[in-house]
Amino acid sequence: MKKILVLFAHPAFQKSRINKILIQDIDAMEGITFHDLYQAYPEMDIDVKSEQQLIEEHDVIIFHHPFYWYSAPAILKEWQDLVLQHGWAYGSHGESLKDKMFLQVLTAGGEQKAYCKKGYNRFTIRQLLTPFEQTANLCKMIYLPPFVVHGTHSISKEEVLKHRNNYMDLLSGLRDEKINIDDLMTKEYFNEFFLSK
Ligand SMILES: Cc1cc2nc3c(=O)[nH]c(=O)nc-3n(C[C@H](O)[C@H](O)[C@H](O)COP(=O)(O)O)c2cc1C
Repeated sequence: MKKILVLFAHPAFQKSRINKILIQDIDAMEGITFHDLYQAYPEMDIDVKSEQQLIEEHDVIIFHHPFYWYSAPAILKEWQDLVLQHGWAYGSHGESLKDKMFLQVLTAGGEQKAYCKKGYNRFTIRQLLTPFEQTANLCKMIYLPPFVVHGTHSISKEEVLKHRNNYMDLLSGLRDEKINIDDLMTKEYFNEFFLSK
Protein backbone atom coordinates (compact mmCIF):
# COMPACT_ATOMS: atom_id res chain seq x y z
CA MET A 1 0.00 0.00 0.00
CA LYS A 2 1.35 3.43 -1.00
CA LYS A 3 1.15 6.33 1.44
CA ILE A 4 -0.22 9.53 -0.08
CA LEU A 5 0.41 13.08 1.09
CA VAL A 6 -1.99 15.78 -0.15
CA LEU A 7 -0.47 19.26 0.22
CA PHE A 8 -3.56 21.45 -0.08
CA ALA A 9 -3.27 25.20 -0.75
CA HIS A 10 -6.28 27.52 -1.04
CA PRO A 11 -5.79 31.06 0.31
CA ALA A 12 -9.53 31.81 0.34
CA PHE A 13 -10.96 28.46 1.37
CA GLN A 14 -13.91 30.07 3.17
CA LYS A 15 -15.15 31.28 -0.26
CA SER A 16 -14.46 27.98 -2.05
CA ARG A 17 -17.29 26.20 -3.87
CA ILE A 18 -15.43 23.50 -5.80
CA ASN A 19 -12.50 22.49 -3.58
CA LYS A 20 -14.76 22.38 -0.54
CA ILE A 21 -16.66 19.55 -2.25
CA LEU A 22 -13.57 17.83 -3.66
CA ILE A 23 -11.95 17.40 -0.24
CA GLN A 24 -14.99 16.74 1.93
CA ASP A 25 -14.39 12.98 2.41
CA ILE A 26 -10.61 12.94 2.20
CA ASP A 27 -9.89 12.96 5.95
CA ALA A 28 -11.72 9.67 6.41
CA MET A 29 -9.59 7.83 3.84
CA GLU A 30 -7.06 5.36 5.15
CA GLY A 31 -3.46 5.87 4.01
CA ILE A 32 -4.04 9.48 2.92
CA THR A 33 -2.51 12.39 4.87
CA PHE A 34 -4.30 15.66 4.18
CA HIS A 35 -2.13 18.68 4.99
CA ASP A 36 -3.69 22.13 4.58
CA LEU A 37 -0.72 24.49 4.14
CA TYR A 38 -2.56 27.81 4.66
CA GLN A 39 -4.15 26.40 7.82
CA ALA A 40 -0.79 25.11 9.11
CA TYR A 41 1.12 28.26 8.18
CA PRO A 42 -1.16 31.32 8.08
CA GLU A 43 1.98 33.50 8.29
CA MET A 44 3.77 31.33 5.67
CA ASP A 45 6.43 30.43 8.23
CA ILE A 46 6.97 26.95 6.85
CA ASP A 47 8.62 24.41 9.15
CA VAL A 48 11.14 22.94 6.71
CA LYS A 49 12.29 19.98 8.83
CA SER A 50 8.73 18.88 9.58
CA GLU A 51 7.75 19.18 5.89
CA GLN A 52 10.78 17.16 4.80
CA GLN A 53 9.94 14.48 7.37
CA LEU A 54 6.35 14.30 6.07
CA ILE A 55 7.63 13.87 2.51
CA GLU A 56 10.02 11.12 3.56
CA GLU A 57 7.11 9.22 5.17
CA HIS A 58 5.03 9.18 1.94
CA ASP A 59 5.29 7.63 -1.53
CA VAL A 60 2.96 9.88 -3.53
CA ILE A 61 3.05 13.67 -3.18
CA ILE A 62 0.06 15.69 -4.41
CA PHE A 63 -0.14 19.47 -4.82
CA HIS A 64 -3.89 20.19 -4.67
CA HIS A 65 -4.83 23.81 -5.39
CA PRO A 66 -6.91 26.21 -7.45
CA PHE A 67 -5.13 27.43 -10.59
CA TYR A 68 -4.04 31.02 -9.81
CA TRP A 69 -2.40 33.15 -12.48
CA TYR A 70 -1.54 30.05 -14.49
CA SER A 71 0.26 28.56 -11.52
CA ALA A 72 -0.26 27.66 -7.86
CA PRO A 73 -1.09 29.92 -4.88
CA ALA A 74 1.96 31.59 -3.32
CA ILE A 75 2.44 29.22 -0.38
CA LEU A 76 3.29 26.35 -2.72
CA LYS A 77 6.07 28.41 -4.28
CA GLU A 78 7.36 29.27 -0.80
CA TRP A 79 7.13 25.57 0.11
CA GLN A 80 9.18 24.61 -2.98
CA ASP A 81 11.76 27.35 -2.37
CA LEU A 82 12.34 26.32 1.26
CA VAL A 83 11.67 22.57 1.43
CA LEU A 84 13.33 21.37 -1.78
CA GLN A 85 16.87 21.91 -0.56
CA HIS A 86 20.04 21.04 -2.45
CA GLY A 87 21.54 17.86 -1.01
CA TRP A 88 18.10 16.70 0.17
CA ALA A 89 15.78 17.05 -2.85
CA TYR A 90 18.28 17.34 -5.70
CA GLY A 91 21.99 17.41 -6.45
CA SER A 92 24.37 14.44 -6.43
CA HIS A 93 23.49 13.52 -2.81
CA GLY A 94 19.87 14.71 -2.84
CA GLU A 95 17.76 11.63 -3.29
CA SER A 96 14.98 11.99 -0.69
CA LEU A 97 12.30 12.31 -3.37
CA LYS A 98 13.71 9.74 -5.79
CA ASP A 99 11.08 7.41 -7.30
CA LYS A 100 8.20 9.03 -5.41
CA MET A 101 5.22 9.96 -7.56
CA PHE A 102 4.18 13.60 -7.99
CA LEU A 103 0.77 14.77 -9.08
CA GLN A 104 -1.19 18.04 -9.28
CA VAL A 105 -4.90 18.22 -8.61
CA LEU A 106 -6.21 21.57 -9.70
CA THR A 107 -9.39 23.52 -10.29
CA ALA A 108 -9.47 26.17 -13.02
CA GLY A 109 -11.99 28.85 -13.92
CA GLY A 110 -11.16 28.44 -17.63
CA GLU A 111 -12.86 25.75 -19.72
CA GLN A 112 -10.67 23.02 -21.20
CA LYS A 113 -11.21 24.42 -24.72
CA ALA A 114 -9.65 27.74 -23.62
CA TYR A 115 -6.39 25.94 -22.84
CA CYS A 116 -4.99 25.33 -26.33
CA LYS A 117 -2.98 27.23 -28.94
CA LYS A 118 -6.08 28.83 -30.47
CA GLY A 119 -7.96 29.28 -27.19
CA TYR A 120 -7.87 32.48 -25.16
CA ASN A 121 -5.32 31.06 -22.71
CA ARG A 122 -3.03 30.17 -25.69
CA PHE A 123 -1.24 27.32 -23.92
CA THR A 124 -2.27 23.88 -22.70
CA ILE A 125 -2.44 23.12 -18.99
CA ARG A 126 0.48 20.71 -19.46
CA GLN A 127 2.57 23.48 -21.05
CA LEU A 128 1.73 25.89 -18.23
CA LEU A 129 2.62 23.26 -15.62
CA THR A 130 6.07 22.53 -17.07
CA PRO A 131 7.96 24.27 -14.19
CA PHE A 132 6.31 21.78 -11.80
CA GLU A 133 7.00 18.86 -14.14
CA GLN A 134 10.67 19.80 -14.50
CA THR A 135 11.01 20.39 -10.74
CA ALA A 136 9.69 16.86 -10.16
CA ASN A 137 12.04 15.56 -12.84
CA LEU A 138 15.07 17.29 -11.30
CA CYS A 139 14.14 15.66 -7.98
CA LYS A 140 14.00 12.26 -9.74
CA MET A 141 10.27 11.91 -9.14
CA ILE A 142 7.70 10.29 -11.41
CA TYR A 143 5.45 13.06 -12.76
CA LEU A 144 1.88 11.85 -13.32
CA PRO A 145 -0.62 13.64 -15.60
CA PRO A 146 -2.62 16.28 -13.66
CA PHE A 147 -6.21 15.84 -12.51
CA VAL A 148 -8.04 19.01 -13.55
CA VAL A 149 -11.53 20.36 -12.86
CA HIS A 150 -12.26 22.98 -15.52
CA GLY A 151 -14.92 25.67 -15.81
CA THR A 152 -15.41 26.16 -12.10
CA HIS A 153 -17.59 29.26 -12.53
CA SER A 154 -20.30 27.43 -14.47
CA ILE A 155 -19.95 23.76 -13.56
CA SER A 156 -23.03 22.10 -11.97
CA LYS A 157 -23.05 20.52 -8.52
CA GLU A 158 -23.62 17.09 -10.17
CA GLU A 159 -20.49 17.51 -12.30
CA VAL A 160 -18.44 18.55 -9.28
CA LEU A 161 -19.67 15.47 -7.40
CA LYS A 162 -18.62 13.29 -10.36
CA HIS A 163 -15.13 14.84 -10.22
CA ARG A 164 -15.09 14.31 -6.45
CA ASN A 165 -15.87 10.61 -6.93
CA ASN A 166 -13.15 10.31 -9.58
CA TYR A 167 -10.69 12.06 -7.25
CA MET A 168 -11.50 9.57 -4.47
CA ASP A 169 -11.02 6.70 -6.99
CA LEU A 170 -7.71 8.27 -8.02
CA LEU A 171 -6.53 8.36 -4.40
CA SER A 172 -7.61 4.82 -3.54
CA GLY A 173 -6.31 3.54 -6.91
CA LEU A 174 -2.85 5.00 -6.34
CA ARG A 175 -2.84 3.91 -2.68
CA ASP A 176 -3.82 0.31 -3.51
CA GLU A 177 -1.62 0.24 -6.65
CA LYS A 178 -4.65 -0.54 -8.80
CA ILE A 179 -3.78 2.02 -11.49
CA ASN A 180 -1.64 0.98 -14.44
CA ILE A 181 1.01 3.71 -14.39
CA ASP A 182 2.34 2.93 -17.90
CA ASP A 183 -1.18 3.38 -19.29
CA LEU A 184 -1.73 6.51 -17.20
CA MET A 185 1.49 8.08 -18.54
CA THR A 186 0.06 8.04 -22.08
CA LYS A 187 -2.73 10.46 -21.02
CA GLU A 188 -2.71 14.27 -21.10
CA TYR A 189 -4.90 14.47 -17.99
CA PHE A 190 -5.45 11.96 -15.19
CA ASN A 191 -9.20 12.55 -15.78
CA GLU A 192 -9.00 10.64 -19.09
CA PHE A 193 -8.29 7.51 -17.10
CA PHE A 194 -11.88 7.58 -15.83
CA LEU A 195 -13.54 8.18 -19.22
CA SER A 196 -13.09 4.57 -20.27
CA LYS A 197 -14.84 3.30 -17.12
C1 LIG B 1 -6.21 35.30 -7.85
C2 LIG B 1 -6.91 34.36 -8.80
C3 LIG B 1 -6.25 33.94 -9.93
C4 LIG B 1 -6.87 33.04 -10.80
N1 LIG B 1 -6.19 32.63 -11.91
C5 LIG B 1 -6.76 31.73 -12.76
C6 LIG B 1 -6.04 31.25 -13.90
O1 LIG B 1 -4.90 31.63 -14.17
N2 LIG B 1 -6.67 30.36 -14.71
C7 LIG B 1 -7.94 29.90 -14.47
O2 LIG B 1 -8.44 29.07 -15.25
N3 LIG B 1 -8.63 30.33 -13.36
C8 LIG B 1 -8.07 31.22 -12.52
N4 LIG B 1 -8.75 31.65 -11.40
C9 LIG B 1 -10.05 31.01 -11.07
C10 LIG B 1 -9.85 29.93 -9.97
O3 LIG B 1 -9.00 28.92 -10.43
C11 LIG B 1 -11.19 29.34 -9.57
O4 LIG B 1 -11.98 30.39 -9.05
C12 LIG B 1 -11.04 28.26 -8.52
O5 LIG B 1 -10.34 27.16 -9.04
C13 LIG B 1 -12.41 27.78 -8.04
O6 LIG B 1 -12.26 26.87 -6.96
P1 LIG B 1 -12.92 27.19 -5.53
O7 LIG B 1 -14.41 27.27 -5.73
O8 LIG B 1 -12.52 26.05 -4.66
O9 LIG B 1 -12.34 28.50 -5.06
C14 LIG B 1 -8.18 32.56 -10.53
C15 LIG B 1 -8.85 33.03 -9.38
C16 LIG B 1 -8.23 33.92 -8.53
C17 LIG B 1 -8.97 34.39 -7.31
